[in-house]
Amino acid sequence: MMKLFTSKSITTDYLNCLKEKGLTIGFVPTMGALHEGHLDLVNRSKRENELTVCSIFVNPIQFNNAEDLAKYPRTLERDTMMLEAAGCDLVFSPETAEMYPQGEPVKFNLEFGLLDKVMEGKFRPGHFNGVAIVVKKFFDIIQPTRAYFGKKDFQQLAIIKFMAETLELPVKIIPCETVREADGLAMSSRNMRLTIAERNLALGIYQTLLKVREQAGNIPVRELKAWAIKKIQEIRGMQVEYFEIADKDSLVPIKDWNNKERAVAFAAVFLGDVRLIDNIELFS
Ligand code: PAJ
Repeated sequence: MMKLFTSKSITTDYLNCLKEKGLTIGFVPTMGALHEGHLDLVNRSKRENELTVCSIFVNPIQFNNAEDLAKYPRTLERDTMMLEAAGCDLVFSPETAEMYPQGEPVKFNLEFGLLDKVMEGKFRPGHFNGVAIVVKKFFDIIQPTRAYFGKKDFQQLAIIKFMAETLELPVKIIPCETVREADGLAMSSRNMRLTIAERNLALGIYQTLLKVREQAGNIPVRELKAWAIKKIQEIRGMQVEYFEIADKDSLVPIKDWNNKERAVAFAAVFLGDVRLIDNIELFS
């Protein structure tokens, strides 16, 4: 039977007992509204650890506006059923006050250099600070051996890796490939908010990323970026927030193809009022 806990201390005590017996713990943090992408992380954790723990918590301090937070899908019952079926051992699903007993907003700022200034960081100020704070809290509560993050949120993964390294956290961060729908659209909880017509158009983002990968190295970076932006903007209802080609670790935008094996293309696009992100490694 899968355990469902809402209390930090009960979760910590329960897992401590098992850790003392030498069991390894894989951890998959989520905000719920689960899909195959999340389950892929859970399956990987199950293969690599004796116990798999998943958190479901819509973290208010990583949202940039109240409306986005209010509209975030909440499907806890369905999520726990999916996790039980996937063989997850424990779900930690706290209330907001359990995670933020002092109330919000939590006012301490972490230093990530450029990592949280570009792309998502530029357009969603404070977002990664909120992500890092909640993930650090989860690591303290769960004390996982390994933690699993999707490359779908490539910049988030870079931030978490950086945090784990600089704070020397005793957890191994495991990057996982982006899981896509049959036609290539990256799975996302936000896809639920698209109309059927929008859903079909949304595929254009990944198709453009694939074409960018085809042309990478042949066309100057600046021209390729301009082409991609134009291509996406031509799709009905799409508004590009940014399209960037950057180094996979530093996330510094690249200007030429000198270190092309390190290049990743990133897109953030509004389709109606739904914001979609995707990325592709150009030479892997
Ligand atoms: P959430 O968006 O629910 O995503 C949870 C994890 O699932 C993240 O590591 C994300 O990268 C991964 N994921 C989402 N879609 C994926 C896909 N199509 N393929 C592979 N992995 C995918 O990311 C968050 O929640 C939050 O910021 C969180 C880390 C839980 C902190 O609040």
